[in-house]
Amino acid sequence: MTTLHDSASASARAASGVLFDGLLPQPPDVVLSLIKLFREDPRAGKIDVGVGVYKDEQGRTPVFAAMKAAEQRLLETQHTKSYLGPEGDFGYLERLTPIIFGTGAAAADLFAVQTPGGTGALRLAAELASAGKPGARIWLGAPSWPIHAPIFAEAGLEVMTFRHFDPKTQALTFDETISALEDAAAGDVVLLHGCCHNPSGADPSLDQWRALANLMVRRGLVPLLDLAYQGLGAGLDEDAAGLRIVMETVDNVMVAYSCDKNFGLYRERTGALFVRARAHADVVRTNILKIARCAWSMPPDHGAAAVRVILEDAGLTKMWRDELEACRARLQAVREMLAEADPRFEPIRGQRGMFSMLSLTPAQVELMRKDHAIYMTGNARINIAGLTAETIAPFAAAYDAVLRTTSA
Ligand code: LMR
Repeated sequence: MTTLHDSASASARAASGVLFDGLLPQPPDVVLSLIKLFREDPRAGKIDVGVGVYKDEQGRTPVFAAMKAAEQRLLETQHTKSYLGPEGDFGYLERLTPIIFGTGAAAADLFAVQTPGGTGALRLAAELASAGKPGARIWLGAPSWPIHAPIFAEAGLEVMTFRHFDPKTQALTFDETISALEDAAAGDVVLLHGCCHNPSGADPSLDQWRALANLMVRRGLVPLLDLAYQGLGAGLDEDAAGLRIVMETVDNVMVAYSCDKNFGLYRERTGALFVRARAHADVVRTNILKIARCAWSMPPDHGAAAVRVILEDAGLTKMWRDELEACRARLQAVREMLAEADPRFEPIRGQRGMFSMLSLTPAQVELMRKDHAIYMTGNARINIAGLTAETIAPFAAAYDAVLRTTSA
């Protein structure tokens, strides 16, 4: 993998003594570059199933009504914007904890810090692992969110990949996951998607979560759970069930959490890192705070403060839960419509969350865009929320046409 500064030719050029000579050109971001491409496409009827943002039946990504109310309350009651400290908003972290971990053993002995989005939490966890064990390895099931591997590599971790899902059969390759992790060494980190796998929508069963948790204990591995879509799969508690099994079984765990999707906060960058390191609690805490201080000093406040206001108020919490449930129900309804539109989409019905992955080559993805104005990421991931009752038929027809043209 090419990182920003690791190639031999870059070091050679850097030796010229001119600052920036060592930099390598970087390609545009594989997910975010779609925003501009889609915006600039003049074709009527274009379909955006690219970047992972929730959209309603009208194609809008509205601010949740509970969030608007919380923001209004904040505006009226917040009398200072003075610093809170490196951990961020304690009320936010305390109120979020039972939603993620429940109130039992899974929630015990956690250190929590607010982060700029889930990405900030992932980077913080990666830096912590790297500082704790220089050159540490992280195991990553492929396919994954395309930014996972570069985040970890940039933090100095060695990224080990294994196959986790087969787009052709639309099934988890769980045996391959287990056999890859049997080769992992004590102290290695393992990235697991807490729910609503990005990009496949295929999550492990509870039995498979138990098997993973037991394997982690047996081999001394440290899970890093990425939970970015809680509530958009099967429900808030259901989506955390696998994570809670891991938390109840394994001593050392890191959880990167995002409120971007389930609170609709996106650009407000609202996340958290939770870490349990029973034998090293104090030193882990001080290192997390030092890494965060050197990266962003203190996290941005607004999103977390608004989440806290929602979670402190029973009425707003109910409003938020109902709105989240409506988003979840719509995603499931689109899954059903896709499955009804074409039998080849049948597996999508049983998958969960915002994404599923079609079995298309990059060239076929390109044809979907060029010939049919349908935008998805290059790995053929589709954002389920980008489809509506109206666009399912043209989407299915385009898929069929591309497969016909390219298989002839
Ligand atoms: C996605 O996967 O589309 C989202 O998580 C947005 C992002 O940051 O890539």
